[in-house]
Amino acid sequence: MAIFTKVMLVIWLLMILVLALLIFRITSLSNPTDLQHQDPIVDVFAITSPASRLSYDFYRNSCPAAEEVVWTMMSQIVSEHKDVPPALLRLFFHDCFIQIPCINLVDVFWINAIQGCDGSVLLNSSSNPNSTAERTAIPNRTLRGFNHIDAIKEAVEKICPGVVSCADILALATRDGVVQIGGPYYPVLTGRRDSKISYFNEATNHIPRPTDNVTQFLRAFAQRGFNARETVALLGAHNIGRMGCGVIRARFNFSGTGNPDPSIPADLLNEMRRRCPDQDQVNSESPSPAPSSDSSAVPAKSNNNSMPNGEKFDAHFYKNLLKGRGLIFSDQQLTARGTTSRIVRAYASDDGGEQAFRRDFARAMIKLSNLNVLTGDEGEIRLSCSLPRNT
Ligand code: HEM
Repeated sequence: MAIFTKVMLVIWLLMILVLALLIFRITSLSNPTDLQHQDPIVDVFAITSPASRLSYDFYRNSCPAAEEVVWTMMSQIVSEHKDVPPALLRLFFHDCFIQIPCINLVDVFWINAIQGCDGSVLLNSSSNPNSTAERTAIPNRTLRGFNHIDAIKEAVEKICPGVVSCADILALATRDGVVQIGGPYYPVLTGRRDSKISYFNEATNHIPRPTDNVTQFLRAFAQRGFNARETVALLGAHNIGRMGCGVIRARFNFSGTGNPDPSIPADLLNEMRRRCPDQDQVNSESPSPAPSSDSSAVPAKSNNNSMPNGEKFDAHFYKNLLKGRGLIFSDQQLTARGTTSRIVRAYASDDGGEQAFRRDFARAMIKLSNLNVLTGDEGEIRLSCSLPRNT
């Protein structure tokens, strides 16, 4: 009886220890300032992610021409549509950024996350009958470029059927697009597998909002292992592409006051109003909205018109922020806190700032590309990027 009591006591003590470790882990993750100071290379999610199971030139034996086909297709597409690289960059970010926390029971004090760069955003229906496709979630409604990924996959399927994942094609095409419009090169490891399901609720809840303040989005990035510098560098993606009128108009009603954000310089506000007139005015002047250039994108009422972020992959995004000319609230928030503001000033500097930004962006993109990927026997290799294999 005495032995039984002792064993029970030990079990209870162990359970309390495990619980304490879990609580410690959860509370430390919810404090963004702690994570901002982590080593930029070594972090929780990089360690626990299966990125180490990706490899350089994974298809060297199974489909040696795969990467070349992606590059060639992308250069053809980009020569006709300069707006595709930013569209894919955003598509890729939205694919990688969602995560479902799950507790690793072997290593209880780590909380693992699954479902990152797994091509789930590309599915046009959900295999879960109670849910809808991830790409129809509100933050994803203005995503573009699905048709180009489908076309590249089709070309790759012709030479190696059922071998190359859509998640890898999206990662490679994103990198190639960035390089082809003058952005920095970064190596992309391959061997990702495709998700069988799509994550509507996670996309709805996990993708940062243009109305988020600096604390909110630093926390979201920190939870995925990105420190403040990496976050500022990644937001530099807003150097290229466009912001739809839906998000621009939101700035005309600052915090529900009905008045524009007072921090917007007058000339920029005029330009915003000219390009994105009130919805009522648009409806009375043009009864039929202009069709989206991407026929496969989910129709977005708010994206008939837009403001350009800029053409070149340089540091103008950061220079604009210093003049208060961020197009969306969250971008401008980068200047609202000392830590991030200092990095913005460094990237905007004429003394090597742009080179520093390009280097940091490339490093952060490597990290984003490896976020919580599926490898080995996980997931599947889809035959068409918009459909799970068994349909
Ligand atoms: C706080 C984080 C972020 C927020 C709140 C945010 C929000 C937005 C919004 C609202 C748009 C305009 C969408 C529309 O037209 O309706 C946009 C565009 C874009 N975003 Fe972000 N974003 C964030 C981070 C990122 C990151 C990390 C990347 C890539 C690494 C990225 C890449 C892009 C690109 C390239 C565009 C232009 C897309 C196009 O031209 O179609 N964004 N973002």
